[in-house]
Amino acid sequence: MELFIDTADVNEIREAAEMGVIDGVTTNPSLIAKSGRKFTDVLKEIVKITDGPVSAEVISVDSVGMIKEAGELVKIGENIVIKIPMIEEGLKAVKALTEREIKTNVTLVFSPLQALLAAKAGATYVSPFVGRLDDIAHDGLEIVDDIVTIYDNYGYMTKVLVASIRNPIHLLQSARMGADVATVPMKVIKQLTKHPLTERGLEKFLEDWKNVPQ
Ligand code: G3P
Repeated sequence: MELFIDTADVNEIREAAEMGVIDGVTTNPSLIAKSGRKFTDVLKEIVKITDGPVSAEVISVDSVGMIKEAGELVKIGENIVIKIPMIEEGLKAVKALTEREIKTNVTLVFSPLQALLAAKAGATYVSPFVGRLDDIAHDGLEIVDDIVTIYDNYGYMTKVLVASIRNPIHLLQSARMGADVATVPMKVIKQLTKHPLTERGLEKFLEDWKNVPQ
């Protein structure tokens, strides 16, 4: 399974890259706003940190505008993936960008049938948002399972990129279901490293080491 980090904070991306655990980065307009920096400045810095796919989202809601924005964004780095909202105009943009061999990530996906359409349009990635579905008392992980099944049934090459991951269980279940990628915030990456037995075990080793003649 590939692991992307879901952030526009370059310090977090650098830290995760140093740990060797991330294969790419996803951003969205809210994360860029949170960084307090210019969109293009952030992207230019991210592509210097990682060679992996970096999702950058368009803000146009018409396909012509999306395609134009995509043309500018891909100039920033060859690993830029264009994040497109799951709307009718977005599907048109995905089709056009796929024909130009520009990679796309269809975002704001909340149903398996939206994911089916994204695959048909040629999306490179599809991003189901599990946490936001859980927030409204729908089972977010259930749609991941459905999407994996549907893509397997028909041999779609679109990768399932599980997004809006809020906790380690979301990631564990996504991995069990065979999702290709998960994008996780730094908070979850840090949670994954921890286990009380690891901490207790390390404390004991270091304690016992004091009894070893030096
Ligand atoms: O990048 C999309 C996504 O992962 C959003 O997560 O926590 O804002 O629902 P969240």
